Amino acid sequence: MAILRSSMVGTKPTLVWVCLITMTFPRRRMNGSIVLFGPPGAGKGTQATRIVDLTSKPQVSTGDMLRQAVSLGSELGLAAKVFMEAGELVPDEVIIGLIAERLKGNDASGGVLFDGYPRTIAQAEELASIAEVSAVISIEVPDQSIIERIVGRRMDPETGAIYHTKFNPAPESISGRLIQRKDDNESTVRTRLSAYHEQTSPLAGWYENQGLLIRINGDQSIEDVGDEIISHLSS
Ligand code: AP5
Repeated sequence: MAILRSSMVGTKPTLVWVCLITMTFPRRRMNGSIVLFGPPGAGKGTQATRIVDLTSKPQVSTGDMLRQAVSLGSELGLAAKVFMEAGELVPDEVIIGLIAERLKGNDASGGVLFDGYPRTIAQAEELASIAEVSAVISIEVPDQSIIERIVGRRMDPETGAIYHTKFNPAPESISGRLIQRKDDNESTVRTRLSAYHEQTSPLAGWYENQGLLIRINGDQSIEDVGDEIISHLSS
């Protein structure tokens, strides 16, 4: 603070206050946990990296946690696998237990970036009882764009990076190791979209009533979507 004071000698008093307030109080929308919300393939995982860089909050993706459980063959994974491969939501009690356990981690004390959670009103109510949500970023993309995005998605199993055969091609050097998710096929995507419209989309109104929803146009380039999100979170 002494360094700050000496470096501000001669600066207008109002400017000094603005600097002090900005440094002392974190931006309102980043105080607690942030929720990334949207249909399958909206770009939640893609945009998570930039938000993590901005906020330093850990990314908590229920999809990734479930896929890990499936690959380990754990009891949870065996229970979740059948729902995931069918494109249906995993039952609330399984997800709620998973999140409650994850939020006990030391790195979660300053809030986290939820990716793909909550997905039902029951999950959102449970979350409200255990954590503070300060912003819900709704990435909005029309259904007709979703199928092309999902079917062309490829993942790097070594880094977790997300690519797309057309919209975000991977470097040639790693193209041989890319994988495609089992549920990334046209018929499963249609079931996932129905689950989204029936069980998840009502959450937008639920969060809007609480003044937390930030609507983002997800039907533009990856960079432009990211810029729009960052400008809202930084305001
Ligand atoms: P999950 O893994 O969460 O899948 P999802 O919500 O269906 O979302 P995705 O991961 O498919 O898409 P995304 O929005 O992250 O898009 P991405 O950035 O990859 O869940 C899988 C399953 O687990 C569920 O079906 C369910 O069974 C279960 N589950 C998980 N959470 C649950 C919960 N809370 N409750 C119950 N069940 C749960 O982008 C997609 C593609 O598009 C990429 O190729 C990317 O490069 C490209 N792309 C991204 N942005 C753009 C852009 N602006 N323009 C062009 N292309 C773009």
